[in-house]
Amino acid sequence: MDPIGKSFEEIETPALLLDLDNFQWNIDKMFKWAKEKGVNVRPHAKTFKAAAICNKLLEAGAIGLMTQKLGEAEALLHAGLLYGDKNILISQEISDPAKTEKLVGMNVAMGEGKVMNAIENAEEAERLSRAALKWGIKQHVVIEMSQGRCGTPPGRPTVDLAKKVVSLKGLKFRGIYGYEGPVDKGVALPRNKLTVDTANMIREAGMEVEIVSAASTGTFEVTGKYSGITEIEPGSFVFGVGPEGTGYGWGTYNEVYFKPSLTVLTQIIGANYTDRVVTDAGLKVMSAGWYIASHYDKDNANKPVLIKVNGELVDFESVSLSEEHGTVQFKEGNETRKKLKWGDKIEFVPSHCCTTLAQHEKIYVVKGGKLAAVWPITAKFKYY
Ligand SMILES: Cc1ncc(COP(=O)(O)O)c(C=O)c1O
Repeated sequence: MDPIGKSFEEIETPALLLDLDNFQWNIDKMFKWAKEKGVNVRPHAKTFKAAAICNKLLEAGAIGLMTQKLGEAEALLHAGLLYGDKNILISQEISDPAKTEKLVGMNVAMGEGKVMNAIENAEEAERLSRAALKWGIKQHVVIEMSQGRCGTPPGRPTVDLAKKVVSLKGLKFRGIYGYEGPVDKGVALPRNKLTVDTANMIREAGMEVEIVSAASTGTFEVTGKYSGITEIEPGSFVFGVGPEGTGYGWGTYNEVYFKPSLTVLTQIIGANYTDRVVTDAGLKVMSAGWYIASHYDKDNANKPVLIKVNGELVDFESVSLSEEHGTVQFKEGNETRKKLKWGDKIEFVPSHCCTTLAQHEKIYVVKGGKLAAVWPITAKFKYY
């Protein structure tokens, strides 16, 4: 039985914790800003995958959700969140014909336009249209305009694909997205220009472009107020960015700040040596992704996680994660090490929130140090 109402330290380890107050602060900040600027927010649910978190975001004013995978969209759709005109946009292209059928079937069952998807080529458009026509519905699509990953090249090729989409009876063209990535303003602005200019070229060719989407957490303020962007799609802001984590490492772009809200609770299982402690959380519960990136904080270059003791970040030398062990190395005589005992519980702040959360089945929601609730990770293991 989960120790609801008791100290979070009573939770069995390893466990994924969410600090409710910091999490709510992050949501409030994002939606207050977006409301002031008049831009829609469609949070990227691949970061948090939990229906309860989606619910919080929809209640805060999200116009819908973005997911990376069809499986994520399916799980969240079936969680019963997308009431009224709230919908999902799947941002990753679908090249498997069986998945195309599944996507269209979801819209047949739940209503046309409930699950939109991004496409990048004419073959994909034709296949989707054929699948939709078999049911007599229209599949709603956006075109991914490439900023270096999937997608059509900006400008004429995107306009041509939009024309193709509009010509197909089984499709409804809704707009474009041009995700510019977590980048500095100097990179984001020219990328945003490509997105908006391309949207305008499509309009000049006589087509309606309702959705013009872009933005990561690191660029939300730059992109969200770029004239012509209608919605932003940040994800990791809910778990924080910056020197205390946990977005994609210990850095941030454009001085964006959100409070850290995600940690992994772990217990010391080895304490016989004065220069280290060994904990019960390793790579199987935590992703160490992104911490090496050289443009991030160099002081933390060897730190796949940061460490909190009694809720405070502490000084340590390095952490090595093997499958099921996390070994924390301290300088000889370190004051924190002297205080730590076998059986103590400490928190790791993982360097990459999305890939860490994807390894878990549930998230323990903590308020003021006490366990308030346990939220299932609704779209767990939905990487297909
Ligand atoms: C297409 C797309 N949109 C939005 C995001 C959200 O980025 P962030 O988690 O930095 O907010 C991502 C992240 O990978 C993405 O791939």
